[in-house]
Amino acid sequence: MTWSEALALGHPDVDAQHRAIIEHMHTIVSEIVDASTAEISAKAPDLVKFLGQHFAMHFVAEEGLMEEARYPDLVHHREEHRRFFVVYEQARKRVEEEKSAEATLILITIATDWVGTHVFGSDARFVDFTHSRGAA
Ligand SMILES: [Fe+2]
Ligand SMILES: [Fe+2]
Repeated sequence: MTWSEALALGHPDVDAQHRAIIEHMHTIVSEIVDASTAEISAKAPDLVKFLGQHFAMHFVAEEGLMEEARYPDLVHHREEHRRFFVVYEQARKRVEEEKSAEATLILITIATDWVGTHVFGSDARFVDFTHSRGAA
């Protein structure tokens, strides 16, 4: 998955953060494809840790915007973020232990699937809500 305007939902802050996350996922893939086992082992744990921090910061920021907007679906949305983070952390710990390309690509697949579903579903609903209120 690479960033394109097709991924923009129309909220500048949310879009910038999604873009940063997707670009970082792309960087991880390009850093481990064609890398030696030793290089992957050296790099992968930090790369996926950094991506996890990006997700965590984005969730805090997005939930903050939802609080400000008094978004009625905030509780459910926050729960989706939390459930994903639990799954992400399991995948990240596996990368930390195995330090392998395989574990890293599994993590990227999990993250890509989730971003695709969540961004175009739940996040898009929030952006539509801000537009309907004229708040964005
Ligand atoms: Fe979200
Ligand atoms: Fe989001």
